[in-house]
Amino acid sequence: MPRKQTQYIGILTSGGDCPGLNTAIRGVGKAALGYYGMHIVGFRDGFRGLMENRTTPLEGGQLSGILTLGGTILGTARDKPHKMLVGGKYKDMTDVIVSNYHDHGLDCLVCLGGGGTQKNALRLKQAGLNVVTLPKTIDNDIAMTDITFGFDTALGIATDAIDRLHSTAHSHHRVIVVEIMGHRAGWLALGAGIAGGADVILIPEIPYTVESVAAAIKRRSLGGKPFSIVAVAEGAITVEEHEARLAALGDKPDGKKSKKNGSSESEIVYADRTIKLAQQLEALSGLEARVTILGHVQRGGAPSAADRILSTRLGTAAADLIARKQYGVMVAARGESTEAVPLEEVAGKVKTVPVDHPWIASARRVSTNFGD
Ligand code: F6P
Repeated sequence: MPRKQTQYIGILTSGGDCPGLNTAIRGVGKAALGYYGMHIVGFRDGFRGLMENRTTPLEGGQLSGILTLGGTILGTARDKPHKMLVGGKYKDMTDVIVSNYHDHGLDCLVCLGGGGTQKNALRLKQAGLNVVTLPKTIDNDIAMTDITFGFDTALGIATDAIDRLHSTAHSHHRVIVVEIMGHRAGWLALGAGIAGGADVILIPEIPYTVESVAAAIKRRSLGGKPFSIVAVAEGAITVEEHEARLAALGDKPDGKKSKKNGSSESEIVYADRTIKLAQQLEALSGLEARVTILGHVQRGGAPSAADRILSTRLGTAAADLIARKQYGVMVAARGESTEAVPLEEVAGKVKTVPVDHPWIASARRVSTNFGD
């Protein structure tokens, strides 16, 4: 028999959206309401909704019919509690958030988000709130969890795109450079590149030279395959860019990135780099090149079956932890199970692809070029 509780929980989604958020909201909510007899309220648009007291009821059937819905019924935003744009100025709104949390009589706040959200949740924990987080992002770059929800769906979308690009690249004897999301991590480009049989995969973790990529394309062409698919992660960098970054880091003994070379790239900057790469490859390989930027299509639509299962597992596990009053943790996926990881061990860390990862070794065995 489930223990009857009258805990009050708030829930919000923060950062970029991804498939599986609604499934996770449903998992947390149905377990909290139906299984544990708790109360639950949704806050709109991430931490801003909590700061502005904008809520969404979740106890009147709103959790039904959302399992397969893309996006988030709560809305999302990239606001940080300690640095929120209010009246045209950035202000620390942590006190307002803390006070609203108490005014709502909350026992715990569940935050569904990526790396930034884990950091923000830790700050709220340090400000005295009970928080539990779930790891979501198509980038799969959150530390201490095997996987994040959203990743599998995006992987399927990007793989499908590469499959489709193959037939047109083949027909026109072209190089198609396909840019895949992932910010500073190469998981999505690597996974989709392997699954879609990309000839070249460029990821941030392995700096590349254009010459190496062009040579691989030429080798294929001479071998009777005058077309190539180059899967490039948003954050992929050349050897020179990598060295410049290291030099900039050297200037900063705390290891923090300088603004100029830091993680502030926008999709425009990524796209400029991808277009430049295609132009260089066209010039060096003698084959016509085209660019496809998959962009936000990778974050849209219904979650895959694997993401639905993962989101449900993590969401219901969050409710279990709250019922046990175990707060200040992220619910991580560990094999078939879940684990509560203290936020201090997650926040501020990025899980990039290890260069000796077995996926990379396998890709090299099937002649995939990494531009190194
Ligand atoms: O973190 C998820 C992600 O989709 C990244 O892969 C991408 O770099 C970024 O978000 C795009 O952010 P926005 O939706 O704010 O343009």
